[in-house]
Amino acid sequence: MKSFRQRKEDVKQNNLSNQKQMSTTASSSSSLETEAEAEAETVYHSKDFKWETLKEEIENNPSYHYHLQPFHSPQHQHHQQDSKAWQNFHTRHSSGKFFKERRYLLKEFPELVNCGEGSKVLEVGCGNGSTVLPILRGNRNVIVYACDCSCEILERAKEFVGASDLASVQQRFHPFYCDFSATGFPKWLACDSCRSFVPQKQHGCFSDVDENDRTHSNDLDLLKKSDCCLGGVDFVTMIFTLSAVSSRRMPSAISECFFVLKPGGLLLFRDYGLYDMSMLRFEPGQRVGSREYMRSDGTRSYFFCLETVRNIVAGAGFVELELYYCCINLVNRRNGKSMRRVWIHGKFQKPI
Ligand SMILES: C[S@@+](CC[C@H](N)C(=O)[O-])C[C@H]1O[C@@H](n2cnc3c(N)ncnc32)[C@H](O)[C@@H]1O
Repeated sequence: MKSFRQRKEDVKQNNLSNQKQMSTTASSSSSLETEAEAEAETVYHSKDFKWETLKEEIENNPSYHYHLQPFHSPQHQHHQQDSKAWQNFHTRHSSGKFFKERRYLLKEFPELVNCGEGSKVLEVGCGNGSTVLPILRGNRNVIVYACDCSCEILERAKEFVGASDLASVQQRFHPFYCDFSATGFPKWLACDSCRSFVPQKQHGCFSDVDENDRTHSNDLDLLKKSDCCLGGVDFVTMIFTLSAVSSRRMPSAISECFFVLKPGGLLLFRDYGLYDMSMLRFEPGQRVGSREYMRSDGTRSYFFCLETVRNIVAGAGFVELELYYCCINLVNRRNGKSMRRVWIHGKFQKPI
C-alpha cells in the first residue's frame, strides 16, 4: 500500500508528464480512458473534415446499418445501477494513471478565464478532475464546485488538484457526492426560491440540505457559515457526462442544470457526437436505445446529433449561443491509422 506522500508524488509526476505531452495521436484501444486521453491531447482545432461527409459515408456502408435501425423499446436499468456501474469503473481504474488535463478547454470556453472575481463554476461528473484543474489553473478568482456519483473518484480528484500546488486551492475547490440524474443537485447550491428566481443572492433563505446526505464536509462547513444556499452558480460545465446518463433522464438532468444557474449563467457542454469512431465500434448487442449503447461494465454512452442537444436544452429553457460538431482526425502513433472523432461543442445561456 502506498503512503499518501508517495501517492501525492505519483500524482505530481503524472501531472508533469501530462504537461510535457503535446501530441495529436492516440492509441487504437477502445477503452474509455484512452478515449479521454486522446481527447485531452487534442490541440485546438475542430474542422478536420465535414460531418456531413462522414454521415453520408456511414449511412451508405451496409456494415454500419445496425447502428441506424429504429429502436422502439429502449432497455433501461434502474438509475442506481447506472451510478453503481460508474462506481465500479472508478474502483477498477483507481490508479489515476489516466488523468489527462483538458488543456484545450479554456480556448473553447474563454468565459471561464474572463469571468469576474468569485465566479462560481459547477463541474458535473467531474471524474478525476481533468476539467476542474485547467479551470482552477486558468483563473485564480474562480471557485469550482464539482460533483460525481463516485466517492472514490472524488478522492482521486482531490489528490490531483491538491498535488497541483495551486494557490489557495482549498478555498477554491469543493468536491461533493451527487448522482444528479437521480436526485438533482443539493439545495445548498440553489434553494427552491433561488431556483425559481435568482436576480441577486437573496439573504435569509435557509437551505433544506439534509446533514445526513453524503455531502463533502467542506460544503457543510460552507453552509454553516452562511446559513443559506449559494444562490446558484455562474457556469455549469458538463464535459462528457450527459452521454453517461440514460437518454430518458437527460431532459430532467439538463433542467437541473438550468435551475442551479443564475440568470444569465452559462451551460458549457462537450460530449460525443453522432458517428464518432467510438460509436461505430459498439457491437449490435450493445445497443440499448437509438444512438445509445452500454459497455460490458454497465456504463452507458450516448452519441448526440445537434438536433437532440438543441431540443433538450431548449426544452429546459436555455438560449443557444453556440452548437456545432468538432470533427478531428487523430492518427494512431503506432500504426499510422487515422481515426475520425466527432464531439459536440455547445454553449447555452439561462435567460436574464
Ligand atoms: C467520462 S467521465 C467525464 C469526467 C470529466 N467531466 C472530464 O472532463 O474528464 C464521466 C463522469 O461522470 C460521472 N457520472 C456519471 N453519471 C453521473 C451522475 N448521474 N451523477 C454524477 N456523476 C455522474 C462518472 O462517474 C464519471 O466520472
